[in-house]
Amino acid sequence: MCALVIRLSIIDSPAAAGKDRPNKDLKFPTTITVLKAAYLSEMRAHKHYAGYCQRSIADGYPNIAFLFAAFAFSEKVHADNYKRILLSLHAEPESPAIALSISDTKTNLIRAAENERVKITKTYPDFLAQLQAESNDQAVINCTYSWKSHQQHRDKIEDILKYAKLLFGSVAKRIEGMKLDFYVCKICGSTIDESPKISCVICNYPISYYQKVLRPA
Ligand SMILES: [Fe+2]
Ligand SMILES: [Fe+2]
Repeated sequence: MCALVIRLSIIDSPAAAGKDRPNKDLKFPTTITVLKAAYLSEMRAHKHYAGYCQRSIADGYPNIAFLFAAFAFSEKVHADNYKRILLSLHAEPESPAIALSISDTKTNLIRAAENERVKITKTYPDFLAQLQAESNDQAVINCTYSWKSHQQHRDKIEDILKYAKLLFGSVAKRIEGMKLDFYVCKICGSTIDESPKISCVICNYPISYYQKVLRPA
């Protein structure tokens, strides 16, 4: 991490913003475009998961609501990471109004699985390919964190959906009978369902960076 900090410090230093380079951020135009798109995508996911959470509470599925709350937390970590990097590049993240599409719990789970699948197979590979040209370390690292974190989300949702498409009632009943806890890494958004015993499986930061997710009210 030291090398990355040093590199960003050099980019941000007054010397780097000399007369010959009136706009020092011209070095990362593609990175900024990608990070703005990634920020929007993560905020959209964050707000949808928060909406899914509230709907599952209303539908009488508090444990599925809890899962959605954990994912909402994780998506906010991703969005905040992009916002932080954009600001460090003197770029403003855009925050247009996000139209939400919230259905019943079963439909929301199916949509969530599909959205996570698209992010894993298309959105993030595209982002990472675009970032290659400029190789901004923080952008590449954080996009990789998000990409891996979405794989965790997809695996958890698909576990539920394996049987839920046909037998949603009985699968939901089994989930609601479980004692659940979720922990999210504040560095990368890694989402796990057991108290962490080793450093983060995605970013390798120590256990102390995991935060226990509160049950939604
Ligand atoms: Fe995300
Ligand atoms: Fe992490």
